[in-house]
Amino acid sequence: MRNNPVWQQLNELAQQAERRDLAKLWQNPNRQQSLVFEFEDLYLDLSKNWLDDQALTALCQLAEAAELKTAIDNMFNGEIVNTTDQLPATHTELRNPQHPNYLRNTESLFSLADQVTNGEVKTAFGKQVKQLVNIGIGGSYLGPRLVVEALTELQSESRISIYFAASVDDSLINQLFKSIDIEHCLFCISSKSFSTVETLMNARAIQAKLKNIKGYQPDQQQSSLMAITANTSRALEAGIPEHMILPFDPSIGGRFSLWSAIGFPIVLAAGKTQFKALLEGAHLMDQHYQQQPFDKNLPVLMALVSIWYRNFIGLSAYSCLPYDARLRSLPKWLQQLMMESTGKMHSTAGEIIDYPTSPWVFGDHGQLSQHAFFQAFHQGVDALPLDFIGVLEHNSPSQDFLLFNLIAQGAALMQGKEEDHSMKGCPGNKPSTTLLMKNMSAKSVGQLLALYEHMIYTQSVIWNINCFDQPGVELGKTIAKDIQAHVENNTLNQMALDPSTLALIQKVTET
Ligand code: F6P
Repeated sequence: MRNNPVWQQLNELAQQAERRDLAKLWQNPNRQQSLVFEFEDLYLDLSKNWLDDQALTALCQLAEAAELKTAIDNMFNGEIVNTTDQLPATHTELRNPQHPNYLRNTESLFSLADQVTNGEVKTAFGKQVKQLVNIGIGGSYLGPRLVVEALTELQSESRISIYFAASVDDSLINQLFKSIDIEHCLFCISSKSFSTVETLMNARAIQAKLKNIKGYQPDQQQSSLMAITANTSRALEAGIPEHMILPFDPSIGGRFSLWSAIGFPIVLAAGKTQFKALLEGAHLMDQHYQQQPFDKNLPVLMALVSIWYRNFIGLSAYSCLPYDARLRSLPKWLQQLMMESTGKMHSTAGEIIDYPTSPWVFGDHGQLSQHAFFQAFHQGVDALPLDFIGVLEHNSPSQDFLLFNLIAQGAALMQGKEEDHSMKGCPGNKPSTTLLMKNMSAKSVGQLLALYEHMIYTQSVIWNINCFDQPGVELGKTIAKDIQAHVENNTLNQMALDPSTLALIQKVTET
């Protein structure tokens, strides 16, 4: 891509100072009109970005040059887009009611959910399930957690409360055991690979605790454990009864998996109707992504703006700021989605690439962030792309307060303020994007999450990287395993480690 003339043209456009000056850019009377986009329940305002028609046109040409349309069709047609694993990426099939995988997925999910909620499934204490603990990490945790929290007020059909155990930490497990009603609790081991150390350690710790509790009698009928996995044989080996295993296909990437069986906690928390509405919202976004020209296509536009900042303006961070507590886990979910998918230095052909890819993604609830790190947004020397996310329909004055704050922050960052006392002055000219959702319905949430998924796929196509693998995470895991084994065998001196790392291991083992 870097050798493409459009790339060079974008470089030149980005160097021109007037394109980084919001006051100048706003001299165009059509700016508001040309940089605000609406689709279904989403309103996307890109007008506070360092961007003009000329840059946007060139960015769309970059997408053309990367053959984005073909790449989108390839993903939706089930072609192999995950070249490392030689797999298609089939998460969109699960939200397409015309696709056989939609029915397969919802039928198996809903059937087990019905059995749980109507009391047919009994825990190993012979009791009805009233709570579910999701034991999983990464994509087997962040997506379900985000949506369970987002739809928390729509739990009419549900009687099951959901808890999450992700990191390995006895204190967390002990705390969890104090909060739950163990006899009525179903522990759900969510792991695509069924080989993630943290998840298996937590599952074993929980199993060990259960075995010591009076009345615990698991058998093929009664079980306090279930599994969601793409590796059914491992779950069976771990002793999970077959009828308590929800399988899903390996072609569904972990961080794109909340629509699959991994979404079981969502079904239990919000009900089948809401889960279907979530899929429907995502499917609407899928169709929009497939059908709309790039200059009207929300996920493509968001990807192009992020590429503009990352590759041409040279900004290396990205912040996601939802102004609604129900979306508090969105930044963490997006962090994994963007950084694990596009934090790559190898092209799809395995060559080292010479341009930056994923930015450093961070964020939190917008209101909390204002009182934590917004100072640096307003007066720090760097700028960075920000997504302000708000929810329009509501019936509480506190939500208005939040929305006014969201709007005020975008305006303050852009306008700035001159002060006699220079320390109080804010330079302004700081960019941001505003994304408003009509309401906090499952359908709107589905659109929002699919929007970000497609934004990430678009980035990856233009960067010519595979967004569906994560080989980089393996090295740290392997070294941790080696350290543990060498410490246990007292053979640390055989490890080729640097003095700093050796001293740290010594500190840990001495204590
Ligand atoms: O180590 C990273 C990772 O493989 C993520 O990609 C994944 O979402 C997470 O671990 C959990 O994996 P699994 O669902 O296989 O337990």
